[in-house]
Amino acid sequence: MKRSITILALMLVMTATAGAQDIVTTKAKFHWGDNAEWKNPNYNDADWQTIPVDKDWYAQGMNREKTYAWYRIHFTPTPELMKSSDQKKSVDIMVGYVDDADETYLNGQLIGGTGRLPDNPAGYESMWSKQRCYTIDVTKLKMNKDNVIAVRMWNEGGEGGMSYGENYDGMVAVRMPSRMDKITITTTEQATAAPMLAVNVSNAFSGTQSGTLEVKALNMDTRETMVLMTKALSIGAKKEKTILLPQNEQAMRYYISFTDNKLNRSVQVVHNPKYILTPKAPEKPRFNMAGLYGVRPGSPVIYRLPVSGVRPMKFSVANLPAGLTLDAENGVIQGKLQNVGDYILKVKAENAKGVAEAQLTIRVGNTIALTPPMGWNSWNCWGLSVSQEKVMASAKALLDKGLADYGYAYMNVDDAWEAPERNADGTIAVNEKFPDMKGLGDWLHERGLKFGIYSSPGDLTCGGYLGSIDHELQDAETYNSWGIDYLKYDWCGYGRKHATEPDNQTVASYVRPYLLMERCLRQQPRDIFYSLCQYGMQDVWKWGYAVDANSWRTTGDITDTWASLYDIGFIRQAELYPYAAPGHWNDPDMLIVGKVGWSANLRDSRLTPDEQYTHISLWCLLASNMLIGCDLAQIDDFTLNLLCNNEVNAINQDILGQQAKRVVDEDGVQIWMRQLSDGGYAVGVFNLNIDDVDVDISKYIARLGLSGKAMRDLWRQKDINETKFFIPTHGVRLLKFK
Ligand code: GAL
Repeated sequence: MKRSITILALMLVMTATAGAQDIVTTKAKFHWGDNAEWKNPNYNDADWQTIPVDKDWYAQGMNREKTYAWYRIHFTPTPELMKSSDQKKSVDIMVGYVDDADETYLNGQLIGGTGRLPDNPAGYESMWSKQRCYTIDVTKLKMNKDNVIAVRMWNEGGEGGMSYGENYDGMVAVRMPSRMDKITITTTEQATAAPMLAVNVSNAFSGTQSGTLEVKALNMDTRETMVLMTKALSIGAKKEKTILLPQNEQAMRYYISFTDNKLNRSVQVVHNPKYILTPKAPEKPRFNMAGLYGVRPGSPVIYRLPVSGVRPMKFSVANLPAGLTLDAENGVIQGKLQNVGDYILKVKAENAKGVAEAQLTIRVGNTIALTPPMGWNSWNCWGLSVSQEKVMASAKALLDKGLADYGYAYMNVDDAWEAPERNADGTIAVNEKFPDMKGLGDWLHERGLKFGIYSSPGDLTCGGYLGSIDHELQDAETYNSWGIDYLKYDWCGYGRKHATEPDNQTVASYVRPYLLMERCLRQQPRDIFYSLCQYGMQDVWKWGYAVDANSWRTTGDITDTWASLYDIGFIRQAELYPYAAPGHWNDPDMLIVGKVGWSANLRDSRLTPDEQYTHISLWCLLASNMLIGCDLAQIDDFTLNLLCNNEVNAINQDILGQQAKRVVDEDGVQIWMRQLSDGGYAVGVFNLNIDDVDVDISKYIARLGLSGKAMRDLWRQKDINETKFFIPTHGVRLLKFK
């Protein structure tokens, strides 16, 4: 008897949401481990703990890697469920996000699974970033009785559990959808000779659906809207149709709708085309660099002159200091300089189309990273599935597709390169995905690229791999032997040790592990960019320079949504401008453009093209680390042009090293501004509204002290006079005043 009272007391919180037909829960019964019995509806789970389904384990303080666990969700459907739906057949069981893979049961019967659990004969596969929705026949529900959804899941590494990350509104819901909920419209731009927009309408419903497809286009320049197509469309059960539309040269925004007139319901999507603003680079050589490179006395110089233009190209340096050599074919400068001081090199690049000359100052001194680091990191694309092969593929693409000609140089391996055990002598070992770290380092250096790696001051990294605790010097020495030039040092597992320390309320206790590694790195005969990753705890920007950090992450992890970009970029960086300076940068996390996915499954960034222009513009204004987070082997023209605009990148790399300050925040329009080393100012005018706006900046010009200066649009690389701009929703105008 007592037991049944407990069951009642622990019954799940069920709340009806806006759509009264939904049953939504935010809590579930939960158990670690794995037992086939747990799928059964009659299994007595009264003793199981109750946990939220909208917060990952890490956020709940439950940090467990490589483990099975089960969630059981009880619910009692009533015939009400069917009332507001126009179909009475199928029901969706929506399980939200499951990190990493799941099998889901309803009343003991398997109803679906996403990713593959480790005991799957086809091998384990993570699919944490996919929202699960399993559709069942309504007859499988027991009306007015207790039903049980049982989710058998596995977490390989990282956060774990249901509803990964703060930026997803995952939940468990049971709903009887309208049949229109089963219509999905997707759009794909086809880069054929005559560019086409493919509009795909798919019907996941078990019956034919008929309606009208309408496509309207808004010309973003003239602001005129025209109807491109109105067409009756009938799509069979579980079938799809694709319609091809010619894509205009102009920037057009497409509004696509499919309407069922009988139901009087529509499904609508907006397609924002990937429009390229960056003008084509000239064929003749052009230097795309800050012209200032910092190195410590006696540390290796590794520098690839970033020059765009057709190859082959011949490089020369008029006054190469003794100790340095130049690879004249690839423009790579290597060697060592022992004496402190500025070495001013006259560099030259020549090809069939012309010649370019520039000045490069190699500043030998105590400060490295005189401008923010530019390069690539494996995390936002590959997550824990990174391998040496994938890093090499992106490194080759960095060179072949010309990104290296714009200064992208660091190739950083994030988490998941480490073996489960150290070697017998205590040195860190690599796992099977990284057969030859030294070889990889050598390959990169030969081409003038740099090599980065990841570890944690704790016992385990965030992904559950070995950290550096008690082996700091040994690890720094290993990094040196592999030729590491960049270390991202991620707090993660250190939290467990920190929790036991008597002084853990003090800033000193947060500084300690980072200072320890800094001392070990500085004993190495090479420069290792020191990147702190501890999400901004204890205002790291106030003491990062004191552990000689070259950058410090200021927030938790970024993801490819506007909510994440807005929060990290526009809210959390606003007060941090006083703390950035040459050699020491605020790091609002890596770029989320191109194909990302944090796993073996990649997708196009979910940011709209305008949001991506905003992202890159803001990161440049913020003097932030510019680490590309996508698979470079699959980079498209849009992303390439986004990352390779020399005038935009020059803002990021400006040697004054001033981080932009927000100077206007009115009606959803923000202006961020920074001073530049040539006496000019970079100014970003951002539209954070959900609507397009017309902004007249003339009213701000005097207020910002910019009167009388010439104006240039940096994305379009055009001098301009007008002060009235149409800025699409979440878009930007990036200007230079001088
Ligand atoms: C997180 C970190 C990410 C990534 C990940 C690796 O803590 O913020 O950027 O490095 O760990 O497990």
